[in-house]
Amino acid sequence: MSAPTTVRGLEDAPTSHAALLSWVREVAALTTPERVVWCDGSEQEWTRVTDELVDAGVLVRLNPELRPNSFWCRTDPTDVARVEERTFICSVDEADAGPTNNWMAPAEMKARMTALYRGSMRGRTMYVIPFCMGPLTAESPMFGVEITDSPYVVASMRVMTRMGTAVLEKMGGDAAFVPALHSIGAPLEPGEADVAWPCNTEKYISHFPESREIWSYGSAYGGNALLGKKCFSLRIASTMGRDEGWLAEHMLILKLTSPEGATKYIAAAFPSACGKTNLAMLEPTIPGWTVETLGDDIAWMRFGDDGRLYAVNPEYGLFGVAPGTDWKTNPNAMRTLAAGNSIYTNVALTDDGDIWWEGMGEPPAHLVDWKGRDWTPGGEELSSHPNSRFCTPITQCPILAPEYDDPRGVPIDAILFGGRRKTTIPLVSEARDWVHGVFQGATLSSETTAAAVGQVGVVRRDPMAMLPFIGYHAGDYFRHWIEMGKGRAGDESLLPRVFYVNWFRRGDEGQFLWPGFGENSRVLKWVVERLEGRGGAVETPVGYVPSAADLDLSGLDVAPADIEAALRIDAEEWKAEIPQITEWFEKFGDKLPAVLWAELDALKARLGVH
Ligand code: GTP
Ligand code: SPV
Ligand code: MN
Repeated sequence: MSAPTTVRGLEDAPTSHAALLSWVREVAALTTPERVVWCDGSEQEWTRVTDELVDAGVLVRLNPELRPNSFWCRTDPTDVARVEERTFICSVDEADAGPTNNWMAPAEMKARMTALYRGSMRGRTMYVIPFCMGPLTAESPMFGVEITDSPYVVASMRVMTRMGTAVLEKMGGDAAFVPALHSIGAPLEPGEADVAWPCNTEKYISHFPESREIWSYGSAYGGNALLGKKCFSLRIASTMGRDEGWLAEHMLILKLTSPEGATKYIAAAFPSACGKTNLAMLEPTIPGWTVETLGDDIAWMRFGDDGRLYAVNPEYGLFGVAPGTDWKTNPNAMRTLAAGNSIYTNVALTDDGDIWWEGMGEPPAHLVDWKGRDWTPGGEELSSHPNSRFCTPITQCPILAPEYDDPRGVPIDAILFGGRRKTTIPLVSEARDWVHGVFQGATLSSETTAAAVGQVGVVRRDPMAMLPFIGYHAGDYFRHWIEMGKGRAGDESLLPRVFYVNWFRRGDEGQFLWPGFGENSRVLKWVVERLEGRGGAVETPVGYVPSAADLDLSGLDVAPADIEAALRIDAEEWKAEIPQITEWFEKFGDKLPAVLWAELDALKARLGVH
C-alpha cells in the first residue's frame, strides 16, 4: 500500500474498501487538508463537531430548556439558496443534458474543478461521510460517500441521512457507492483567522451521470452541499431510474386513514417552497381523518411484484422552510422541532436563546436577525431569510408512519402534482388517465420562490416539480413517465391515479381563495372518494373537477364565492396557456413523446381552440 501523503488521519481508515480508500487518498492529495476524519455517525461525534462549531462561532447553542441540543446558524448573505445557474449536468453527450440543464463536457468540468480543488482544503479538516439513502436494510442499499471540508455539512448530513460506521460496515470491501466531493473553497493560510461562514464566490454544482459522481464547490448551503439530497437522490438517481425502470421524484409521501379505517398512500410533487413539508405533516380539520408522514421532499418509486408502484423516502431528516411554520399552519413540525437535536439556518434569534421567524405569531420586541443585526418589529426588513430552514430528524415527527423504515416502501394510490399559481389552475382536478396525468405534470407551472437564487414570483414551467433536478434530457424524462404508465403487467388500474392541485389561487383583493394547510384534508378526502369511485365531479376541458357540493366543506368558514372561484375553470385563462405550453413543448423537439402533443391537441379541441 502506498501512502502518497502524510496527512494526519488518512491511514486510520476504518474500512478495507479499496476503491473508497484510493479515492479518499486521491482527494486528500489534491485538496491537501490538515487532517482527515472518518465520520462514525455517533452521538459523541455530533457533540464534538457541534461543540467545535460553537467554539468557532459558526453555531450558537440555543437555550437548552427551550431547544435542547439545538443550534442557530447564519450563513454568508450570498450563500442562502440553491444556485441553479451554477448547476451542471456533465453528460458525455451534450444532447443528453437536454434544453433544461446547464451542460459542460465532463473532461472540461473536471479540469476546471480540479484546478479549484487543488489545495482548497488547506488548513482545514477533511471529513469522510459514508451515507446511505433509504433504509440500510434494502436489498441493494444506495450508498454514497461525501468528502467535505465543512463541519456544518457533517452535522447536517447526520440529521438528513443514515450515515457512519453502520454504513461503512454494510458497504464491506466492494459495494458500489456514489462519490460526492464537496469543498467550500476557502483554504486557510497558517495563522489566518477563519470567518463564520467560509465559502467562495465561484460556485459549481456538477453531476457526472455516466460515472455517477458529484463534484460541488464554493457553497455550504442546503441542496448545494448536502450532496445526498438533490444531487444524489434526484439528479443522479433520476438517471439510475431511467436506466433501471424506476422513478426518483421531488415528492412527499403521506399515509391517509379515513374514519372507517381505510388507508391510502399519497405522493405529491410541488416545486421548492410550494407546500410539500406542510402537506406531509398535515393535521386534518375534518373529524376522524388522520395523516401520517413518510417523507417531505423526495420519493423513489419502483414497481413491486404485484405491479403496484411502491415509494421509499431516501432521507432521514427534514430540511424545511422555516417562515410560515407555526402552531396554526404546521403543528406537527413545531412538535418535531420541540424535541430538539436541530439546526436552524438564517432564522432570527430571540433574547432568551430561542428562534423566531415571520409567521410565528407576534414578533418579540427584540431579535438578532439573520444578518446578525439588532431587529425590532415594524421595520422594512424581514428578521429571517425567506429561504431560512430547519434541519431536524424525521424520527422526531410525532405522526411518523411506522412504515417509513420499510425498504419495500408503500404502495402509492394517488400522485398529486401542484404549483403556486395566482390564476387559472383550479384547487383540484383529476386527470382523465395516466397519459393525461403525465401531460398535467409535464406542463406544471409555478411561481419561482426563494429556494433558488434569482427572481421570485415569476411563472415558469416546472415539469413534475423537477425542473432543477432532472439529471438528463427532460424529453426523455417525459418518455420514461409514459413508459412507466404501461405498468409492469400492462395493467393501468394498478397505477396511482393523478391529480393536479393549486392551494395558491388568489382573489380580486390578492387574498388566497382557499385557506390551505389543515383544510387541504378536504381535498384529500375528495381524492379518496374518487379513488373509491364515489366522489362527484364535473368533466371539464382540463379534467374532472369537483363542484363545491362535491367537497366536504362542513364547518369551513370561507365565503362560497371564494370556493367557487377556487374551483372555476376559466376558458379564457386556459386559452392563454396554450401558446405557452406549445412553446414549452417545442423546446424538446423530437424528444417530446408524440402522445403529449396529442394531449395538447385534445385539450385545444375541448377548449374550442384551433
Ligand atoms: P422545499 O423544502 O423547498 O422543497 O419546500 P416545500 O415544498 O416542502 O414547501 P413548504 O411546505 O415548506 O411550504 C413553503 C411555503 O408555502 C411556506 O411558507 C408555507 O407556509 C407555504 N404553504 C404551504 N402550504 C400552504 C397552503 O396550503 N396554503 C398557503 N397559502 N401556503 C402554504
Ligand atoms: C428545495 O429547494 O427543493 C429544497 C431545499 O428542498 S434544498 O435542500 O436547498 O434543495
Ligand atoms: Mn425540495
